[in-house]
Amino acid sequence: MKMKIAVLAGDGIGPEIVEQGIKVCKAVGEKYHHELVFEEGLVGATAIDAVGNPFPDETFELCKSSDAVLFGAIGDPKYDNDPKAKVRPEQGLLAMRKKLGLYANVRPVTTFRSLLDKSPLRRDLVENVDFVVLRELTGGIYFGKPQGRSEDGNTAYDSSVYHRYEIERIVKLGCEYAMQRSKRLTVVDKANVLATSRLWREVAGEVVKDYPELTVDFMFVDNAAMQIIQWPGKFDVMVTENMFGDILTDEASVITGSLGLLPSASIGKLTSVFEPIHGSYPQAKGKNIANPLGTILSAAMMFEYAFKLNEEAALIREAVMQSMEENYVTEDLTRDNPRSTSEVGDWIADYIRKK
Ligand code: IPM
Ligand code: MG
Repeated sequence: MKMKIAVLAGDGIGPEIVEQGIKVCKAVGEKYHHELVFEEGLVGATAIDAVGNPFPDETFELCKSSDAVLFGAIGDPKYDNDPKAKVRPEQGLLAMRKKLGLYANVRPVTTFRSLLDKSPLRRDLVENVDFVVLRELTGGIYFGKPQGRSEDGNTAYDSSVYHRYEIERIVKLGCEYAMQRSKRLTVVDKANVLATSRLWREVAGEVVKDYPELTVDFMFVDNAAMQIIQWPGKFDVMVTENMFGDILTDEASVITGSLGLLPSASIGKLTSVFEPIHGSYPQAKGKNIANPLGTILSAAMMFEYAFKLNEEAALIREAVMQSMEENYVTEDLTRDNPRSTSEVGDWIADYIRKK
């Protein structure tokens, strides 16, 4: 098979971790005789510095003409500390999501046997954790208008907006996922306070009627945040709006032992994007210490979702698992002889080649 992959490394540790993702893809390509073509595009603060736009048109065209996008991370402290900045790196990520119509962000949360003791939660709580969060990605408070400041600068406002069709399509996807898994769906909202959440509850209630085999739970987000920590093993598929999904998945990543481990797939109308859920970790930039596994596992999701190559995806996951079994991991996961970002990437690529 021949595939063209757009590589948007972005900011901070983005380039270092994406390099490991590419190594691993190349090893898979050699082993299974796929022709993989990688083409780089600018995004985020790096793109603002280069061309003044965090998601330039050329990058959009590159994404559209590719079979998948492998994405690193976005964000730079120089913007975080400047609330008056007119353009921000994160706008690049949001523009990409909107323009590519990436309405569903799939974030699997699974624990790895060899890392059970790295979790801040008790071993018996995290042993069988295996759930997936479907985060709505192109609506809600991230995109709602009006958004801004009053003329005197003393008032600021954001709007959370959801249309029925946006809720329908993601809840439907949640139902399809749950049907393939343990048939349990949790719809997370804040229907006791928010109008958008009440629409979510109404629409979700209608959509799930087509899936009578499912056990459906409606849960307020504050309660969900608590239960994710208290009984993480009870969840199967969780579907929620944009900002709740953002927050709950960072929380959920802690269960696995490191934020650096969680991959994601953003799927929608045009090319799908595969990216780790962590941020640009600017403190580690250029130090070759960041954990590349979230990106490598995102590459596994790319083989599975974008190319329908399950065997290739399974081999990547096996290699990642094995690197953990052998404690060949970065410093976020071990104090005992931690390996560098590139060493972990090399180890996994070698494992795949030799297998
Ligand atoms: C994520 C990130 C982004 C988000 C940021 C970088 C804009 O936190 O993908 O979870 O909030 O969606
Ligand atoms: Mg986030």
